[in-house]
Amino acid sequence: FMSKKTTEKFSENVTPHNAIISRSHRELQNGHGSILLWFTGLSGAGKSTLAHAVEEKFYKLNYKTYVLDGDNVRHDLCGDLEFSEKDRKENIRRIGQVGKLFVDAGIITLAAFISPFKADRDRVRELMGEGNFVEIYCKASLKVCEQRDIKGIYKKARSGLIKEFTGISSPYEEPDHPELVIDTGTESLDKSVQIILDFLAEKKSLR
Ligand code: ADX
Repeated sequence: FMSKKTTEKFSENVTPHNAIISRSHRELQNGHGSILLWFTGLSGAGKSTLAHAVEEKFYKLNYKTYVLDGDNVRHDLCGDLEFSEKDRKENIRRIGQVGKLFVDAGIITLAAFISPFKADRDRVRELMGEGNFVEIYCKASLKVCEQRDIKGIYKKARSGLIKEFTGISSPYEEPDHPELVIDTGTESLDKSVQIILDFLAEKKSLR
């Protein structure tokens, strides 16, 4: 049970209990497979909106789903973290681990986080393993996100009220090889949802 590749720390003197019921039992019972859909992109790019819209589609099909969302998780599970590179790394590490548990629980899990650093996203990808992770780059330009400024947060960042703001005073590293790039700056929500559903159907990801 100690996997070789990972860099995570392990607790001493703790022996995991082997479950009788596994992910595949749960998937069989649910009638669908589980997966982690990872939405990355600038604040205001539409990650959460898209994740929730995809969730709604699945929910209507009676699929088991859950959305993990930066704006919520940062109030509780990650309420102790700020926006330094170190804290964002820890934020994404925790979400990766939670995502892994949810996927093991048989749930289609949708994670919407800026996750600006490639290395952090790649660590989650590696943790999840082949076929369990779909990186969806919600690509909207800074200009569009800033024009939308739904939360009034870019204005604050520009005026210096928020430090280390992604896209303004902190970097966003674009994914090199995401499974999907969706131009959330121009594409309609319906079309964006369909792109994801088509991808999952084509790859038979939920079997
Ligand atoms: S991440 O970089 O660690 O992945 P996360 O997705 O959890 O970020 O949280 C992003 C949300 O926090 C943004 O949508 C925005 O509302 C808020 N926020 C507050 N401060 C910042 C900041 N300095 N940079 C980016 N987002 C911020």
